[in-house]
Amino acid sequence: MKVIAHRGYSGKYPENTMLSFQKAVEAGCDGIELDVQTTKDGVVVVIHDERVDRTTDGEGFVKDYTFEEIRKLNAAKLFPHVTDFEPIPSLEEYCAWMAQNNIFTNIEIKTGVYYYEDVEKKTVEIVKKYGLEDRIIYSSFNHMSLEKVKRLLPEASCGALIGGNGLGNAGYYCASCGLEYYHPSYKTLNDQVIENCKAHGVKLNVWTVNDMAELEKLYAWDCCGVITNFPQVCKAYVKFKENENR
Ligand code: G3P
Ligand code: MG
Repeated sequence: MKVIAHRGYSGKYPENTMLSFQKAVEAGCDGIELDVQTTKDGVVVVIHDERVDRTTDGEGFVKDYTFEEIRKLNAAKLFPHVTDFEPIPSLEEYCAWMAQNNIFTNIEIKTGVYYYEDVEKKTVEIVKKYGLEDRIIYSSFNHMSLEKVKRLLPEASCGALIGGNGLGNAGYYCASCGLEYYHPSYKTLNDQVIENCKAHGVKLNVWTVNDMAELEKLYAWDCCGVITNFPQVCKAYVKFKENENR
């Protein structure tokens, strides 16, 4: 079972910053999940909310900032005890760093609220520039973004993100859409969903797993990956289970 650091090591460090990504790698994660949107001048940046208010010292929408402007904001606002300042990374900065690290990345394209013109094309171009095609899983709550990624890069791995109550017949849905993964909330899982995905050859990466009981259950279900704010704890558990099974 792969351990995927949700927005980096966001349980202990400012989410979606290079610091949280570096710390996730130090914690031994297998992969990193991050969120992308674009600025007013079309730069792909790594940030979760459509507004900058919660995680930075600025206010307003990501889409109303130029890259030069957004870069000055402090994305470490919620972690003053950890660091004074962390900028919002560009996806390009992240990919240049990832090329030097032995991890995979789940790029979540945040087009569920606003549609950012050509964000899929820009994202795929950056991934290609750094030769990372084989180490990326694209996901989105807006499945049209995944369809666009597949058109641009047919060999890309994609996962259908689903919130709310989950999706009925999810394995069938993902397989029919040509999606390799289903990315549900843990809360929506049960034996039937797991069986349905397995029957259709669809792999599961489940979010956001910060609870030991959930982790145990997902391991028993033989899930492909867990997306967690605490990669160090999850990795220790997976290693323990692997030793136990030896
Ligand atoms: O990709 C898994 C998870 O990140 C989806 O929800 O809101 O944390 O981006 P959110
Ligand atoms: Mg996300």
